[in-house]
Amino acid sequence: MEILSHDILIVGGGGAGLRAAIAISQSNPSLKTAIVSKVYPMRSHTVAAEGGSAAVLKEDDNHDLHAYDTIKGSDFLADQDAVEAFVRDATKEVIQIERWGCPWNREEDGRIAARWFGGMSRKRTLHASDKTGFHLLHALFQTSLKYDSLMRYDEWHVSALLVDDGKIAGVLAIDTRRGTFSILAARTVILCTGGVGRIYAFTSNAGILTGDGAALAYRSGAPLKDMEFIQFHPSGLLRTGILITEASRGEGGYLFNKEGKRFMENYAPTKMELAPRDIVSRSIMEEIAAKRGFEGPYGSYVHLDLRHLGEPKIMEKLPMVRELCLDFAGMDPVYEPIPIRPTMHYTMGGVHTDKDGKTPIAGLLAAGEAACVSIHGANRLGSNSLTELLVFGARAGRTAVEYASSAKPCPSERLQALAKEKMDFIQKRYIRTENGTERVGAILSELRKTMDEKVGIYRREEGLQEAIQIIQRLKDRFNRIRLTQQSKVFNTELIGAMELDNMLEVAHVVAMCAMIRKESRGGHARKDFPKRDDEQFLHHSLTFQSPDGPRRETLPVTFTKWKPEERKY
Ligand code: FUM
Repeated sequence: MEILSHDILIVGGGGAGLRAAIAISQSNPSLKTAIVSKVYPMRSHTVAAEGGSAAVLKEDDNHDLHAYDTIKGSDFLADQDAVEAFVRDATKEVIQIERWGCPWNREEDGRIAARWFGGMSRKRTLHASDKTGFHLLHALFQTSLKYDSLMRYDEWHVSALLVDDGKIAGVLAIDTRRGTFSILAARTVILCTGGVGRIYAFTSNAGILTGDGAALAYRSGAPLKDMEFIQFHPSGLLRTGILITEASRGEGGYLFNKEGKRFMENYAPTKMELAPRDIVSRSIMEEIAAKRGFEGPYGSYVHLDLRHLGEPKIMEKLPMVRELCLDFAGMDPVYEPIPIRPTMHYTMGGVHTDKDGKTPIAGLLAAGEAACVSIHGANRLGSNSLTELLVFGARAGRTAVEYASSAKPCPSERLQALAKEKMDFIQKRYIRTENGTERVGAILSELRKTMDEKVGIYRREEGLQEAIQIIQRLKDRFNRIRLTQQSKVFNTELIGAMELDNMLEVAHVVAMCAMIRKESRGGHARKDFPKRDDEQFLHHSLTFQSPDGPRRETLPVTFTKWKPEERKY
């Protein structure tokens, strides 16, 4: 098989991947670095983080406050040393990204503007109207184009990691345009593949968010951390789940039930609509359960009302919200309240890394939503994720340079042997399936329905056990899959099958960890165990793949200055 050699390979061309690539190219331009991405980088999901990027810039703010807000938001599960590093680096990164072209909104006096976001005690969310992810990605992408040492494999899908004797050696990837597999050899690989949102049906996540990085690492022996913690964003546009940015509430939008009451008064009287996402999402679900929500052909919902902000402010600060409402809900938020309900938005868990991006496999790193450092613990604060991908993308890039400068490349014969083993597996599992009977779409629909219904905002033992059994049955059905597309060119059925395999693996871990954690913390709310239980569960969960299914261990949380306390807003 063809071997394409590099020093460092980055899997994923979104914000974290591009930031890592720039850090590598700046630190050591002689290293041959490549980004392999299943979509053209500017189509990455980073564009969907709309409302802003949090960092300390203002006189009334400081790093300890940002750290405390993040740790309290995490329900005290975040590693505090990592959070402290994050908030410090954040300030440098948001200035750097402006120098690369990110057009931050400005105050009247010319200084960078900040807006409120949920769970933050200061206005610290920098923004480029409500298209922050787009502008940030654009700034990173155009900067990456300056570096000759950086090459790209756009629209290539990574099917397996090649690990030699505990050390990363490269990846096996398919060029979807030609349908051919190649070995992309590298001494260091950074996974920047985003989250696992597409295991749910109602999600704000792009179709590409299929947990590829998590599944690749997990199958290669790296543990996944804290996968039970899934974030539901309060404002998913009814019917599609498309994100209506939290900036809508940051700029002053209200939530109303059908009785016309701002119901957040009952749940978070000090923060109201700007409580953290886990709390606002649960509050909406409580209103709906108490029959105070609206009902319609697309299910239950509440109102997000922006009308009092007026058209000029909406057009200045929230133009994309208006555009999305017009295009996808046929209504105009200048004149009508927006119908919303919580949508799966973010994966707090991910590939277990330290704060420099290292996983337990030598030379394998991860950053961005694919990784769990952990700075978000049980619940991420809105606008910490764009900053996360800048901070930890850059850190992983620098770590990769250090590692790649001393690691030896894997010999070609060994690479060929590793790739052959993977290729035989791929042929048998996905390509020569003429005797199979099961279809990708049917399995995928049942997986998503199961996750929505049984591993959603509220969880119960019985539902979680059922979910695990269903996922096991779906995995069995997957063993009898049949693909019918013959063409090698853009064989999306084949890619879809590989993605589904990844989703089943990761969903199994999510459901199992949710069942084992018999407490409620942050985004993990157990109806049967409604309280946080620090005695028994103040730890991270680490899950390893084993022949008998997911095997779970625990890992202590790192504390520096802040002791766990009751989380009130
Ligand atoms: O609501 C939003 O704009 C999402 C931002 C985020 O997830 O950080």
